[in-house]
Amino acid sequence: MNALVARRYGSPDVVMVREVPDPVVGPRDVVVRVHATTVSSGDARLRAARFPTGFGLLGRLLFGVFKPRRPVLGVELAGFVDAVGSEVTEHAVGDRVLAMTGDRMGAHAERCVVSVDHCVVALPDDVSFEDAVTLPFGGTTALTFLQDRAQVQPGDRVLVIGASGAVGTAAVQVARLLGAQVTGVCSAANAPLVRSLGAERVIDYATTDVFAGSEQWDVVIDTIGRASLAQCRRVATPNGRIGLVAGGLPQLLAAPLLTWTSRQRIGAGPAAESPAHLARLVEWLRTGAYRPVVDRRLPWQQGAEAHTRVDSQRKVGSVVLTFEAA
Ligand SMILES: NC(=O)c1ccc[n+]([C@@H]2O[C@H](COP(=O)([O-])OP(=O)(O)OC[C@H]3O[C@@H](n4cnc5c(N)ncnc54)[C@H](OP(=O)(O)O)[C@@H]3O)[C@@H](O)[C@H]2O)c1
Repeated sequence: MNALVARRYGSPDVVMVREVPDPVVGPRDVVVRVHATTVSSGDARLRAARFPTGFGLLGRLLFGVFKPRRPVLGVELAGFVDAVGSEVTEHAVGDRVLAMTGDRMGAHAERCVVSVDHCVVALPDDVSFEDAVTLPFGGTTALTFLQDRAQVQPGDRVLVIGASGAVGTAAVQVARLLGAQVTGVCSAANAPLVRSLGAERVIDYATTDVFAGSEQWDVVIDTIGRASLAQCRRVATPNGRIGLVAGGLPQLLAAPLLTWTSRQRIGAGPAAESPAHLARLVEWLRTGAYRPVVDRRLPWQQGAEAHTRVDSQRKVGSVVLTFEAA
C-alpha cells in the first residue's frame, strides 16, 4: 500500500509518498481503509522532533532517538473496515468507523490497523468521513480537560486561550455544550468564527493582554503554552480550574503540587483517547450541535504541504487529508 513516510526528523519535506507493507491484523485489531485523516499539531511536532519543553530526551526515547520509530505518522482516521481480527465481534468488514491510533500512529496510509480495545467507534451513514475526522484530536482533548479534569458545570465562566486551533475550536464548542459561558482569546481575523462556535466574548490577543486585567474565570484552558503558570493562575478564580493543554515538563510537575497546596486545581499531561468521548462527539456532530472546523482539505499525497501549513501555527481547526473513495 501507499503511505506518507517520514524516515527522519526534519522539515515538512522529509514527508514522502512511499510504498510500505500492508498492515498485519492482530486478533483484536481491525484494518481500516482510510478515507480521511488529518495532519495534526502532534504529527508536526513528532516529524520535527519538536517536543514540549523538558520532554526532548523522553520524546526521543519514546518515539525514536535519531529518526521516527514509526515512520508513518497520523493519529486520527475515518474510513471503512477492510479486515477484522479473529476475536473482533464489535465491527465487521464494510462498517464505517472513526478511530484514534494512539502511539501506533499510521493513519497517513491507505490502510491503518487499530485495536478495537483502544478507540474505535461506529460512524453513522449521515456523518461524512471528512467531517468526522476533525473530531478526535481536538475534541477528545477538549473533553478530557474541560469535562474530566476541570469538571465544567453549567454557568461556569470558561476562558479558552488560543480559541481558533484544533483544540481551541473544540474547547469553545465543548464548553458551550457543557453549559458554560465562553470567552475566547484569538486574533481579530478569527473572532467571527470563534463567536459563531459559541463564545459569548472574544479577546483579541494583539490589542488586549488578558493577563493584565483584573477579570477572572472559573476555568482557564491554555492551548498555546506561551503564558506562564502564574499568569494562568492570576486570571482564574481562587478556586478555579486551569488546563495546561500545551504545558511542558515543569508545568506537569508543578500541577499536582499546586493542586495540593492551593484551592486552584491544575490539569496537565496527555489527554485520554476515549471511545466514550469520541461517540459523544460523533452524536453532537450528527445532530448539528457541534461544527467541524476545517482549515483546508488536501489530497493525501500533498502531505508535505499539509505539514507546512501546520508548522505555520496559523491553521484554523484541522488540516484534513482525503483519500480516493474507498
Ligand atoms: N495535552 C494533550 O494531550 C494535547 C492534545 C492535543 C494538542 N496538544 C497541544 O496543544 C497545542 C495546540 O494544538 P492545536 O492542534 O490546537 O494547535 P493549532 O491548531 O496548530 O493552533 C493554531 C492556532 O493557534 C492560534 N494562535 C497562535 N498563536 C496564538 C496566540 N498567541 N494566542 C492565541 N491564539 C494563537 C492561531 O490563530 P492566529 O493565527 O489567529 O494567531 C491558530 O488558529 C499544541 O501545542 C499541541 O501539541 C496537547
